[in-house]
Parts: sequence; C-alpha cells; structure tokens
Amino acid sequence: MAHAPERILVTGGAGFIGSHAALRLLEEGHLVTIVDDLSRGNSGAIEALRQVGPVAFVEGDIGDRDLMRQIMREQDTQCVWHFAALAYVGESVEQPLRYYRQNATASINLLSVMDELNIEKLVFSSTCATYGEPETNLIPIREDCPQQPINPYGRSKLLVEHAVRDLAIARHARGQSFHAAMLRYFNVAGSDPEGRLGEDHDPETHLIPICLEAVLGRRDSVKIFGTDYPTPDGTCIRDFVHVSDLIDAHLVAMRSLGASASDETVRAYNVGTGSGLSVREVVEACRAVTGVDFPVEEVARRPGDPPKLCADAGRIEAVLGWTAARPQIEQMVKDAWRWRQQHPFGFRSV
Ligand SMILES: NC(=O)c1ccc[n+]([C@@H]2O[C@H](COP(=O)([O-])OP(=O)(O)OC[C@H]3O[C@@H](n4cnc5c(N)ncnc54)[C@H](O)[C@@H]3O)[C@@H](O)[C@H]2O)c1
Repeated sequence: MAHAPERILVTGGAGFIGSHAALRLLEEGHLVTIVDDLSRGNSGAIEALRQVGPVAFVEGDIGDRDLMRQIMREQDTQCVWHFAALAYVGESVEQPLRYYRQNATASINLLSVMDELNIEKLVFSSTCATYGEPETNLIPIREDCPQQPINPYGRSKLLVEHAVRDLAIARHARGQSFHAAMLRYFNVAGSDPEGRLGEDHDPETHLIPICLEAVLGRRDSVKIFGTDYPTPDGTCIRDFVHVSDLIDAHLVAMRSLGASASDETVRAYNVGTGSGLSVREVVEACRAVTGVDFPVEEVARRPGDPPKLCADAGRIEAVLGWTAARPQIEQMVKDAWRWRQQHPFGFRSV
C-alpha cells in the first residue's frame, strides 16, 4: 500500500544508520532533510544519497535551537528521525560531559524546538546500552527489563528517553498531541544490499567492519576481548540486526505513530533478531564470506562488556508486525563486504 509522502528531518543522516534511513525514505518518496555536524559522519554519504534523490543537507549542530527552528520551519517538518549522537562507550567514560552535552542536551534542545513548532512525531534511536548488564534470567531482554546503564553513553541515551516521555505527558496535559517510538537497537550490521552506502566509522569499533579491514590487510589482526566468558565458546554473545531490517522497523514505527487514538503515545521497542551470535561465530562468518583467513588476537576482557546481550523482540512483532527479514549473519557480512570491496578506504575511496 502506498503511503502519503511526509516531510521528515533525519538527524545524523551522514552517519551509518542515518544515511541508510535517508536512502530508504528517498526511495519511498518522502521529502528528506538531513542535519549533521559531520563530527562523525561522512560527506560522501550525502553525495551517495544525492545520486538517489533530492535531499536537503544542512551541516550543523542539532543542539543549535535557532538553526533547528529555522530548518524545521522552512521545511515544514512533520516527523523527526533522530539518529545524531556520539556512540563510543569507551570515549563516553573518558569524556562524559561531552556525551551528556552532545547526546542529552542537544536532544533536549531538539525536542524543545519540536514542542515549540508543534511537530508531533518522533522516531528516536535508543540503544540496548540503556539496559546495562541485566541479570542472566532477564535475557533475552524485554522492554520492561530495568534500565540501569553502566556508562555515560547509555545514561545519556536513557535521559533522552525520559525527556521524550515527559514531553509527551506535558503536551497531552496541554491538549497537544505527541507520538514517539523509541527503538532500542542492539548491534547493527550490514549495509545497503545495492552497495550504495556502507559503514565507515573513524575510529571503527564495530566487529564486522573491523574484520573486513583485516581481510583487506588494513589491520594486522582482529582482537577478541575475552575468551573466558560463561558462553559456549567463551566469547561474548551479541544480537546482530541488518541495517535494512532496522530501517524497516523505523518505517513501521513511524506509520504507527498517532494511527489510533487509544495507542500509547510513547512506546519503546527492542530491535534485534533475538538470536545471539558469539564474537567467534561472527569472525568465522567474515572468514567464510570473504574467503580470507585473517589472524585474530585473543586478549583480556574489556571492562563493562556483559557476556550476553540479546533482544526479546516480541513486542515489535506483536504490535507493529516487524521481524527481521535478513536474520543471517552471512547476509549482513556479504552486504557489508560488497561495499567494502568497492570502498576499501570507506567513503574516502571515492
Ligand atoms: N550502530 C549501532 O550498532 C547502534 C546500536 C545502538 C544504537 N545506535 C544509535 O544509532 C544512532 C546512529 O548510530 P550510527 O552507528 O549510525 O552512528 P554514526 O556515528 O555513524 O552516526 C551518527 C551521526 O550523528 C552526527 N552527529 C553527532 N552529534 C551530532 C550533533 N550534535 N548534531 C548533528 N549531528 C551530529 C555524526 O556526525 C554522525 O554522522 C546513534 O544515536 C546511536 O546511539 C547505534
């Protein structure tokens, strides 16, 4: 069924997930404006998006209320997909105030402009880091699992979740509408199956792109942090979701916003496949897909890495009908590899 085009602001749209979101929105005929300060994003991603459709791009800080007011007024924004954030756990421990400022304060400024301009729909990128280290009996993790983040990154994201809920309550008390979906992602992987966009972080901290850099000889080895966890092969277990599936989840979440008067106005959903994979299994998948047997180095555990993080994605399936269409890790690696082969130095390869 065709859906009416909406005017959507994508924050962080030059980043990995935000650029994939913008790509899909363009393909679906929506009117897309991206705001990204390029602190972590790639202007090459914006160039790639421009090959697909007309996309408005503003280089700027989402915490700048005057700028955001001007953009959202000019574009007559109807809905915000909010990806912009800093997302390195270790860095957040070293520079906590930067994380609170760039993730929490900037998001609160964005919300205040949305409130002022009566923009009623938000899809927010939250994270499994808001759960911290749940007890083993709470895994797979449901949305009602206590949220006890163990680092400033997770806490800065949880603050935004609270701000979103409180804003919704206040707006409803004033007789104004506000609907939000807060998607708590687990590990996002893969890339556009047509190879137009990929994952390119600097520094790279995600396992699959790190393995692919080793395949290309751009790293000597891949470090496995901890091989003595209480898991079948001793390495940590994580829940990987294909970025295309994640974007599907955003689309169904957006369509659900305000669709029924009786709906909860702010809802959190886990987005994952529900099946965990160990670090070793992911490394093996990268070796199998690329045919290259790159070296691994087994090193000590990193502090704050829980043995197993796995989503119970039952709520998003029950309420929105979403399940992962590409749950196999090989598919995620294949798609990431296709882009990497064409862009061995990431977006700088072009
Ligand atoms: N990648 C994952 O596996 C994962 C998992 C859970 C949650 N998330 C969340 O998903 C979102 C996107 O993650 P990603 O992997 O695409 O990260 P990314 O670093 O690739 O993208 C984030 C983008 O936001 C931009 N940005 C940061 N602060 C900004 C600001 N104040 N104003 C304007 N732009 C700003 C950066 O330049 C970057 O382009 C983040 O909110 C992250 O917390 C990601």
